[in-house]
Amino acid sequence: MNNSPIGLFDSGMGGLSIWRELYTHLPNESLLFFGDGVRCPYGSKSKEQILSYTVEAVERLIAEGCKLIVIACNTATAVAIEHLRATYPHIPFVGLEPAVKPAALSSKSGCVAVLATKRSLEGELFTATSARYADRVNILKAVGEGFVELVEQGLENSPEAEECVSRVVEPLIAAGADKIVLGCTHYPFLKDTIERVIADREVEVIDSGEAVCRRVEQLLDSNSLRAESQNKASYRFLTLADESYLQMLEKRAYGY
Ligand code: DGL
Repeated sequence: MNNSPIGLFDSGMGGLSIWRELYTHLPNESLLFFGDGVRCPYGSKSKEQILSYTVEAVERLIAEGCKLIVIACNTATAVAIEHLRATYPHIPFVGLEPAVKPAALSSKSGCVAVLATKRSLEGELFTATSARYADRVNILKAVGEGFVELVEQGLENSPEAEECVSRVVEPLIAAGADKIVLGCTHYPFLKDTIERVIADREVEVIDSGEAVCRRVEQLLDSNSLRAESQNKASYRFLTLADESYLQMLEKRAYGY
């Protein structure tokens, strides 16, 4: 038993989509969320920059006493997860990967689309996963150009968002995709908008939230790290940005 917090890290607010899963399903676990907020978006930065920002954040979460860390950012996972596991072997890490497997196994059209940042789509992790399903389905890759910025500005339900989503999603549907995998933790904030664009067409949107939560539970169990059942969970937020960004993180975590 261990009542220390679970740490979560993202370039900005996107990781809150994972935070919400843990908050909902693991009510006695304390959570410490670190959202960079200053250097976001990471998706177009160099590997060296992303690695150094991620290490900086992870060291802060470790210094704060986190017992397990979720890299709640597909981009940072793609670049840094191996390095983190090798450098901090005493900390269990959970990384984010696009949910290609469930999409590939359930596709009827034989075509699935993965939406992610440029850096994630170029990563070895994604290349290896997509190669595993390449004989079963055609995998279309698309960068959600402008998506992260919309979410950071709280504009995910605006007409601009609908236009931006439509520009990316329409060609994927036209090419035959019946599954759209959200391979960036910012994108679930745009799920309603994506579904509005899909309208009555038979296309399913898939994200990684539930699978990540299950993986966290497995690692808590296998490392005997679950909090006590009577533990009163605490929730803290950290950022490199200013006080108003911090307030926004907190506000959006609870969904108000
Ligand atoms: N939330 C991110 C991800 O899952 C990063 C987006 C970005 O900073 O570009 O990839």
